[in-house]
Amino acid sequence: MNFRHYPVMSNEVLEVFAGTAKKLFVDCTVGGGGHSHRILSAFPQARLIALDQDEESLELARATLAGFAARVEFRHGSYLSLFDELDCKKLGVSGVLVDPGISMVQLKDGRRGFAHSLEGPLDMRKDPAAGGETAADVLNGWGEERLADLFARYGEVLYSRRLAKAVVEKRLFAPWRTTGELRRLVEGLTHWRPRAGSVHPAAQVFQALRIAVNRELDGLASWLERIPAQLPAGSRVAFLTYHSLEDRLVKRAFQEMKRRERAVLLRPFPGRPGAGEVAENLASRSAKLRALEVA
Ligand SMILES: C[S@@+](CC[C@H](N)C(=O)[O-])C[C@H]1O[C@@H](n2cnc3c(N)ncnc32)[C@H](O)[C@@H]1O
Repeated sequence: MNFRHYPVMSNEVLEVFAGTAKKLFVDCTVGGGGHSHRILSAFPQARLIALDQDEESLELARATLAGFAARVEFRHGSYLSLFDELDCKKLGVSGVLVDPGISMVQLKDGRRGFAHSLEGPLDMRKDPAAGGETAADVLNGWGEERLADLFARYGEVLYSRRLAKAVVEKRLFAPWRTTGELRRLVEGLTHWRPRAGSVHPAAQVFQALRIAVNRELDGLASWLERIPAQLPAGSRVAFLTYHSLEDRLVKRAFQEMKRRERAVLLRPFPGRPGAGEVAENLASRSAKLRALEVA
């Protein structure tokens, strides 16, 4: 597969990490390896641990970072287990980056089911080897109320009840199987007509399903709470968020650490990508970067 990697707000991420000891970084969500490539290029003495829960993304990152092989260690798994698996204090971690969501390698592969614009199975699991429910299982198995709640909470879908009702009605005749079926249902319900600059309404619905399938927010609050106890003083954390629920969790946790004098919030963060970056990479438009230094 051939496409460009656009590490979101990567100059700002480098600015955050420039103020550290620059010895060992953890890229919790290496994806295509774009941020890691910039970190390893900018800090030639630094080593990096690259994590991802998606084997295909890790494979791509290995190729992107081949030139830095001696300084990188790749690990498969969720960053939510980071503090259970690695002693970051003992290792002397200087900086931790979290850039969750989905990578281009996942989005551009129709077989993964993440993109409403590509025909494919309704899968959406970032770690298929771990098993678990697919998006089709959710649409075929969950009750109407639970689906409505999912669309409203994780997708901020205004017509969540109508959508949940239509999902349940459709499966009485044939089970949910493909991304195209869901996209067409959403287009029908919203009377969608493409207009320049407008976001397709299926994007929110797909986002909601992806968050549920991958349990993206489960365990995040307690992971954030552990930062001051698990990371060395003077180390820094850069966290990119892409939707309001996730951002609220990160903002609250960072503010609480500041209140307890366990961290200093770095300014001018939260930051947003500049107009130039958004023009080059539309996927960055909803990003917010928050950063702190452990006290
Ligand atoms: C937006 S991409 C990261 C892109 C990367 N920063 C780059 O520059 O190429 C998000 C990546 O995070 C991974 N991911 C999401 N949640 C994760 C988790 N809990 N643990 C590990 N990886 C995760 C996804 O599999 C995906 O590859």
